[in-house]
Amino acid sequence: SSDETVDALIAQMTLEEKIGQLTQFSDLGDTTGPAPNDDLQRRRLDLVTSGTVGSMLNVIGLENIRTIQDYAVNESRLGIPVLFAYDVVHGYKTIFPLPLAEAASWDLDMMEETARIAGAEAAADGLNWTFAPMIDISRDARWGRVMEGAGEDPYLGAKIAVARVRGFQGDDLSDPLTIAATAKHFAGYGFAEAGRDYNTVDVGTVTVHNIMLPPFRAAIEQAGAATVMNAFNVLNGVPATGDRALQRDLLKGKWGFEGFIVSDWGSGLEMINHGFAENERDAALKAIMAGSDMDMESYVYFNHLAELVEAGEVPIALVDDAVRRILKVKADLGLFEDPYRYIDEARAEATIMAPEHLDAARRMAERSVVLLKNDGGLLPLKQNDNIALIGALAADKDSPIGNWRAMGASDSAVSLVEGFEAAGLNFSYSEGAAVEIGDAGFPNEVIVNMDDRSGFDAAVAAARTADKVVIVLGEDGLQSGEGRSRAHLGFPGVQQELLEAVRAANENVILVVMSGRPLVLTWADENVPAIVQAWHLGSESGHALTNVLTGAYNPSGKLPMSFPRSVGQLPLYYNHLNTGRPDEIAEVFWSHYIDEKNTPLYAFGHGLSYTEFAYSGLSVTPTATGASVEVSVQNTGDVAGEEVVQLYIRDRTASVSRPVRELKGFEKIALEPGEAKSVSFTLGPDELGFYNGMGDFLVEPGTFDVFVGGSSNATLSAQFDLKAATAID
Ligand code: IFM
Repeated sequence: SSDETVDALIAQMTLEEKIGQLTQFSDLGDTTGPAPNDDLQRRRLDLVTSGTVGSMLNVIGLENIRTIQDYAVNESRLGIPVLFAYDVVHGYKTIFPLPLAEAASWDLDMMEETARIAGAEAAADGLNWTFAPMIDISRDARWGRVMEGAGEDPYLGAKIAVARVRGFQGDDLSDPLTIAATAKHFAGYGFAEAGRDYNTVDVGTVTVHNIMLPPFRAAIEQAGAATVMNAFNVLNGVPATGDRALQRDLLKGKWGFEGFIVSDWGSGLEMINHGFAENERDAALKAIMAGSDMDMESYVYFNHLAELVEAGEVPIALVDDAVRRILKVKADLGLFEDPYRYIDEARAEATIMAPEHLDAARRMAERSVVLLKNDGGLLPLKQNDNIALIGALAADKDSPIGNWRAMGASDSAVSLVEGFEAAGLNFSYSEGAAVEIGDAGFPNEVIVNMDDRSGFDAAVAAARTADKVVIVLGEDGLQSGEGRSRAHLGFPGVQQELLEAVRAANENVILVVMSGRPLVLTWADENVPAIVQAWHLGSESGHALTNVLTGAYNPSGKLPMSFPRSVGQLPLYYNHLNTGRPDEIAEVFWSHYIDEKNTPLYAFGHGLSYTEFAYSGLSVTPTATGASVEVSVQNTGDVAGEEVVQLYIRDRTASVSRPVRELKGFEKIALEPGEAKSVSFTLGPDELGFYNGMGDFLVEPGTFDVFVGGSSNATLSAQFDLKAATAID
């Protein structure tokens, strides 16, 4: 059995070889050429040969991977294969919408499918482990990495986490078309203070247990995520990488996680900056004691763990446990049976960018678009509309590929201009305001000519004579993502000015927003009749977006994050507590801003369609352990459409204050014009209970409100009483 293989290996391993398994280095460059001169590269190849590297990241291409695997398998003493990891986040070479965009589809099957395809393409190119999905909940659009997650809600986030892990891993890790997934970042990274990446995280334990942790628990217990990555940040005073309560006690202890934990890049070393570790040796000590199994690019285990074991400060049993976990994943991936299982030119040729993958990218992109506003039925576009298409992002073939693009090629997306051409629409294109992308891919160099207004006149002239204007504004593909926090959430550069000039010339403006996060669209909401949230939609962006704008696909996306009216409202989330002073009273002393509303501009769960859905007949029947809920939904418009039916609860009184609303069920249904369907939900202890600040799960009796509808503002409601109290863990 694989356990025996692993145990037999551990019995033969030297301490140095064991520590090697706990070490992960980044790529070696081209390994296939003549012996590298670069000292570091030479040294690392020597380390692979001596069996002291467990895993590599960012090694790309079958030849490079084969060369390194050859060194490991044929030349190292025990021939233990190397694990090859890469950030395959929303596609490998076929690029799907950003994860946040996909989350807007609320289509779990489709998200599982895109993860499966991404995994299959990566696996066909020699990789066997992805650092995805990122399942950090975030309530702050300033944080650039919201693009990589599933938004603000733990219930939706947990379902999506499970779908994505299943997609990457399937039900057999040794299948050569599946790869190991990573649930990351454990924990709290999405709560970086003020949305500034890598910043301190200081949140109450009720929020930790009810909001931050549920997607991780689900990814592990329901989908069997093979690995977990810890986080750069300090969570409530302790760096996650050195947090024993979180990793060893909760994750590996209480939750029984059997896979391994990889550190984030250099996060072991960063514990010195955090003022938690005295030096590198101390960092190694604290990380291993806390349960961080594999060190990514910190060198702290590599340089200090042996000495710590020899000094008796780290029990060898802890090292063995980490090694066992890592070797077990290698065994599950089938690497001991065949270290070259993932290296197959013919499979790479047949799999990567297969036509059906692009087809899935288009279908997923269509489902990810959210129609925020459509006054007067300005959309869908008609074939004979005379359209002025404006904005650099409309012609941009790169930005839709987005950040964390893996092997997605530059300029490889279908642009909206190309989409309009393919659909034979009657349009003229003008750039308006330049958004040019630099080569380096770093923000300071990304946007040039941002104050160039030279294209305004042509754009305004085109707008003046058109029936309708489609203006595409927002962020370029590298303005969200890691290290891309923003303090301002308007359109970068002079795009807002362009919008205002164009709007003054033509009132039939359709604003298409490309971004990796919620932007502040308050002016647009007041002045523009139609707004479409188009994120960064991946390889098939232009075709998908055209289909949505023309109604060839009727939009069905719903926001996975609240859209703020102003940056000053952040963090902003629908499942907030009520406060002691929630209601507007004549005086000033209630919980509000004197210069802005409390509510979001567009609520969590919001999204329109070209048809309308009517909700009726809500019935809530108490059961022994909760309630069963039924509602009828009818398509009352003229075209077929899909609706995400959402169920929220409010626990009126509990031993811990509960949010004003919490999502506890959803179903995406398709309805023909006039058709009605009955949708039912079951509320049981899992949905009705909550964690207290100690992490105990409680189900308390009392009155619950139920709300059902097409967004978190759903108005149809009923109440029921939960009689019996059940204590479960
Ligand atoms: O996987 C990532 C992580 O999310 C951020 N730091 C680097 C890792 C490897 O690329």
